[in-house]
Amino acid sequence: MNAPTLQGLPIQAPAYVKNARLIAWVADMVALCKPARIHWCDGSQQEYDTLCQQLVDAGTFKRLNPAKRANSYLACSDPSDVARVEGRTYICSEKQEDAGPTNNWMAPNEMRATLQPLFDGCMAGRTMYVVPFSMGPLGSPIAQIGVELSDSAYVAVNMKLMTRMGRAVYDVIGTDGSFVPCMHTVGVPLAVGEKDRTSWPCNETKYIVHYPETREIWSYGSGYGGNALLGKKCLALRIASTMGRDEGWLAEHMLILGVENPQGKKYHVAAAFPSACGKTNFSMLVPPAGFEGWKVTTIGDDIAWIKPQADGSLRAINPEAGYFGVAPGTNMQTNPNCMLSLNRDVIFTNVALTDDGDVWWEGLEKDTGSLPAHLIDWKGQDWTPAIARETGAKAAHPNARFTTAATNNPALDAAWDDPAGVVIDAMIFGGRRSTTVPLVTEARDWQEGVYMAATMGSETTAAAVGQQGVVRRDPFAMLPFAGYNMSDYFQHWLNMGKKLQAAGATLPRIYCVNWFRKGADGKFVWPGYGENMRVLKWMLDRIEGKAQGQQTAFGIAPQYGEINWQGLDFSQAQFNTVTDIDDAAWGEELKLHDAHFDKLAHHLPPQLLATRAALQQRLGV
Ligand code: GTP
Ligand code: SPV
Ligand code: MN
Repeated sequence: MNAPTLQGLPIQAPAYVKNARLIAWVADMVALCKPARIHWCDGSQQEYDTLCQQLVDAGTFKRLNPAKRANSYLACSDPSDVARVEGRTYICSEKQEDAGPTNNWMAPNEMRATLQPLFDGCMAGRTMYVVPFSMGPLGSPIAQIGVELSDSAYVAVNMKLMTRMGRAVYDVIGTDGSFVPCMHTVGVPLAVGEKDRTSWPCNETKYIVHYPETREIWSYGSGYGGNALLGKKCLALRIASTMGRDEGWLAEHMLILGVENPQGKKYHVAAAFPSACGKTNFSMLVPPAGFEGWKVTTIGDDIAWIKPQADGSLRAINPEAGYFGVAPGTNMQTNPNCMLSLNRDVIFTNVALTDDGDVWWEGLEKDTGSLPAHLIDWKGQDWTPAIARETGAKAAHPNARFTTAATNNPALDAAWDDPAGVVIDAMIFGGRRSTTVPLVTEARDWQEGVYMAATMGSETTAAAVGQQGVVRRDPFAMLPFAGYNMSDYFQHWLNMGKKLQAAGATLPRIYCVNWFRKGADGKFVWPGYGENMRVLKWMLDRIEGKAQGQQTAFGIAPQYGEINWQGLDFSQAQFNTVTDIDDAAWGEELKLHDAHFDKLAHHLPPQLLATRAALQQRLGV
């Protein structure tokens, strides 16, 4: 084909690429980034294997022992590039008020002027990978197409597992279909003949930039996770949330699961927990003893796109095709389905390497009964139990992750890639709180549910760079992912509820949960993981009108006797420890809600202040 030639480099689009805007954009970006080569990804297994071998040759990947983990690799990142960088993430809307007080903002023109010199020549000496992907089933009316131009082969192979990536995407966009352009560079150009000095090139300067009005993504300087796999947080949450606002749907940081009772009745539940707070675990839950005949299946583990239907129902799809999940803490006791998903065809990032060429992370000792005698830790250093005791060194980084295709999951729901999605019967919001917030309550109505979600607090985790374990407000678990003003986002949720109700729909019930209350000994009181099934079952009993619950200041809570305790020793006293509503603590909590709402005052829906006043009255504080 007669491709444009720029900087002496023909862009060499394959004949099956027929989208004029795409070809012109790639040509422009080649002129800007000045790569040495272009690779148009076709998404084939052969391409994946070749790129993985290249990553092995470059030292970025280590091939794991095929007898232990077939066709699997370990990548260890630069120690400075291990998680999302919220402080460097920008929503560049035309008006600052549209980004809102929870997002970093810069005027689009100013940001473009800032990025221009950084991207100029940024891919020198490297290959530009053209990575076409679909978020959502290929060709589905609710899917969105993106094309990521990246100078990282690690990104290309991860995108193959995480999205529907490859040649078929070009058929979807045809000659004039639209796509979200996603620019990504690690920001380390190479001089002629220069070789990489490290196996994980990245730049100290980082920018993760979104232009919501023109629906563009520009990411500079990081090769890690949500900073670099631009279909995930950047497109499927930040850009998609603005699409949802404009078009009347929701893009949420939610898992989606199916739960079927022994009689064969099936429900679908979506749950928003902040990063590293249990979505993957909950989405793959194995019902414990006492729940024989129950089945939980995974539709998604991180993101849900939820659209209202003509009949008033809300249908959800998982736009992703794989999992980028937290490794530490995962074992056969906490998440057996996840462990079984990791047997083959996995990319591990920042876990430790065993002497027999397998991977290891903190938590796996629960399966084997002992710590390994020796490992190479994620930083490439020797690790032994003695060293760990002395220095506290972790073998795996706390935000170490695995990348695996959804099809590896033995608990995958049959409808996981049904373009029609599944009808949502309940929504759950849950933060990580050592104190104050009870195990579970049900919102009395949609508005109270929106209030619970909007005021959700959570202790920060290793999923983002920064201080860990401090409580911050993480409304809807979307603090780092809302692509527009948070108060407008609250209003959008209220409007959606109102509209559906006006159409006579039964809205999904909304629940607030907290698996993370700690006792005086500093340990989690609630056993969590599979045992969360007991709470899930109570929710379904509520929906079926089988559990009366009891009114509390903060919604309807279960009575001890309404939970199925068969197979678990959990006393009324322990139950009280995780469900108590301490008025004094809630008085303090309300002050935090107030400070949060003060910050969000611009466009804050007045209904939320009314709900807050009612809450205060019920608490009597
Ligand atoms: P992102 O991928 O970052 O969005 O996170 P996620 O919400 O999918 O988190 P994930 O399920 O991977 O959970 C991460 C951490 O939460 C791990 O350390 C788990 O051990 C812990 N965790 C998950 N479920 C529970 C639970 O029910 N109780 C307790 N105590 N810990 C849990
Ligand atoms: C999260 O932090 O919520 C994640 C991991 O799901 S990342 O894709 O890196 O954002
Ligand atoms: Mn997430």
